[in-house]
Amino acid sequence: MTGSIATPLRPNSLYYGDCLDVMGQWDSEQVDLIYLDPPFNSKADYNQLFGTENGVPAQVRAFTDTWTWNEAAAERLRRLEGAVAHPAHKAVSGLHQVLGESGMLAYLTYMAERLAECRRLLKPHGVARPSTHLYNSLILHN
Ligand SMILES: C[S@@+](CC[C@H](N)C(=O)[O-])C[C@H]1O[C@@H](n2cnc3c(N)ncnc32)[C@H](O)[C@@H]1O
Repeated sequence: MTGSIATPLRPNSLYYGDCLDVMGQWDSEQVDLIYLDPPFNSKADYNQLFGTENGVPAQVRAFTDTWTWNEAAAERLRRLEGAVAHPAHKAVSGLHQVLGESGMLAYLTYMAERLAECRRLLKPHGVARPSTHLYNSLILHN
């Protein structure tokens, strides 16, 4: 980037893309309230109905919520465990010990990077509420 913000933070706006990339462009401590309805490792795939074809509901895959340990997850873990100053470093290292290299840890490393951005954006007395998962609250509040 050349110093200008491609996606400025504006009220009443909808942003399309990976929230990590979008939030990463914004200054810290700008937001009063964050409500998240993130993936929750439900081990299911979700389709979106958009009409009918010959009387049969037409649908597309909206998102996959099945997490497996893979190279992308291992890379996230390396990033988080290697960055002692990262706000999720301790929580993720502890969860690594408890959960091992698993689908759950793949999911939580994905969430940890995004939750850390949420926390950075909050004003000092701002509030973030994830709709799901005790582990996400643990990462967010530690
Ligand atoms: C539990 S669903 C939320 C559904 C939504 N509240 C609704 O009622 O349609 C989680 C959503 O997060 C989206 N998602 C997953 N990772 C994301 C990311 N990195 N950035 C933005 N959205 C993401 C998924 O595509 C999915 O639509």
